[in-house]
Amino acid sequence: MSKKTTENAAPATTNENESCHGRILVVDDDAFILTLLSAWLEDAGHEVRTTENGDDAIALLPQFQPNLVITDLRMEGMDGITLLNEIQQYNAVLPVIMLSGSAQISDAVRAAHQGIFEFLTKPVEPDALFRCVRAALLYAGNTGGSQQTNSFAPEIIHQSTVMANLLKQAQRVAKSRSSVFIGGSTGTGKELLAHAIHRASPRADAVFVGVNCGALSEQLLESELFGHEKGAFTGAVRKHSGLFQAASGGTLFLDEVGDMPPTLQVKLLRVLQEGQVKPVGAVDSVDIDVRIISATHHDLELAVKRGEFREDLFYRLNVIPLYIPALNERREDIPLLINHFLAQQAQQDDLDELPRFAPDALDYMMSMPWPGNVRQLQNVVERCSVLSVSPIIPHSLVKKALRDSENKFQTLQEARDEFDRNYLHRVLRMVGGNMNNAGTVSGCSEKELQTLLQRHRIDPNEFRKASTEDEAASPQEGDGIRLV
Ligand SMILES: Nc1ncnc2c1ncn2[C@@H]1O[C@H](COP(=O)(O)OP(=O)(O)OP(=O)(O)O)[C@@H](O)[C@H]1O
Ligand SMILES: [Mg+2]
Repeated sequence: MSKKTTENAAPATTNENESCHGRILVVDDDAFILTLLSAWLEDAGHEVRTTENGDDAIALLPQFQPNLVITDLRMEGMDGITLLNEIQQYNAVLPVIMLSGSAQISDAVRAAHQGIFEFLTKPVEPDALFRCVRAALLYAGNTGGSQQTNSFAPEIIHQSTVMANLLKQAQRVAKSRSSVFIGGSTGTGKELLAHAIHRASPRADAVFVGVNCGALSEQLLESELFGHEKGAFTGAVRKHSGLFQAASGGTLFLDEVGDMPPTLQVKLLRVLQEGQVKPVGAVDSVDIDVRIISATHHDLELAVKRGEFREDLFYRLNVIPLYIPALNERREDIPLLINHFLAQQAQQDDLDELPRFAPDALDYMMSMPWPGNVRQLQNVVERCSVLSVSPIIPHSLVKKALRDSENKFQTLQEARDEFDRNYLHRVLRMVGGNMNNAGTVSGCSEKELQTLLQRHRIDPNEFRKASTEDEAASPQEGDGIRLV
């Protein structure tokens, strides 16, 4: 190691590092490097073990269970590549960072092809090391938690506390017959949650019937939901019993209920109040036995205030409200979701090697606003996995895939909402969450700001801490403009 690096003091631990701790095994036959790296990493809050050779490192794996291995390439006895192979036998997804002198570039290329996470040239700069360690730990999904194994909904990938609490609540309410309303922006997983609630309910053996209330014309939706007699209207060539009856004993999922036309809202309310449905053109009503789960990406409370959605129906549907937070409010879920979608795609495409994102690509994905939430993330991961010509997906490809995914045409309301959210985040970040200053900067009264923040569920307090972190960190590309 050169003099320059050995004289580097351990950098102050940044908040970025504090939020991402792991167990790190460092392997190098140079005792001085071991001491230096372990001092840096321990100061940054990681748990560190060191060994001077590959054999001892392998012996330590089952006992220490590292989240990351940092190893020298050239060592006495077992070299770094052989150690990498052994590690991969033990755990194929354990990230390995390889250290080497710059002259050994052909070894580096060889190692990259064998699936090292990142290659760092000696002398190691602390900032480069920390960036790389952070990305590797995020890749491994080890940001201090792990996928909460929950038999209630194992398909809902998460490690954030907000999601864990939401799922606990959902699991409890699944048992009852009460109507559940699921709110949340587009692509947050509302339909996935509706299915999970049904499966955990006493109605699990009966059917789950879903209908998208925004996708059908008023007449069609009415006859789909309530049924119709033969000849009830032009085109009604045979009797149709309707989804309320089809879902008997099970669950009826009214997706995008916020898009239901007002006249149908009245009819739906009547059906729910009376527990009976009368098909269009029929004389008699039929008893129904369904559990209603509804969802919308609109702010239904606001729609009620504006007179666009009936208040009485809102209360009927909203007996148990569940709100799925946007992906950018639970960024710790991102690495797990990425790994999940990569694995899904690899299985679908029958790939031998699981692709993964380069550290800077992963960092970029962690910092993006994801207005299309999990669906957009899934879309980007799939695109990258398909388009990447190497098993390590580069930053440039992620940028392109994200741009393409954002080109989906938005409605005017979606575009306005997105602009408002971006703008509010930008202002709050700028003024460190101070509402007085936010008012001055934006030219809005505090009351107007409060209303907007409430509507977009933004808490100004969260920007108090974030703003000091931002000042410490170097600015990200598009920071404050695209970040939500
Ligand atoms: N936590 C999660 N784990 C795994 N996959 C998820 C998760 N959340 C969402 N998805 C996936 O993301 C996609 C979008 O989810 P879903 O259709 O449930 O969202 P939504 O909230 O109903 O969206 P929209 O409002 O646009 O209808 C689906 O492919 C779903 O499987
Ligand atoms: Mg949906």
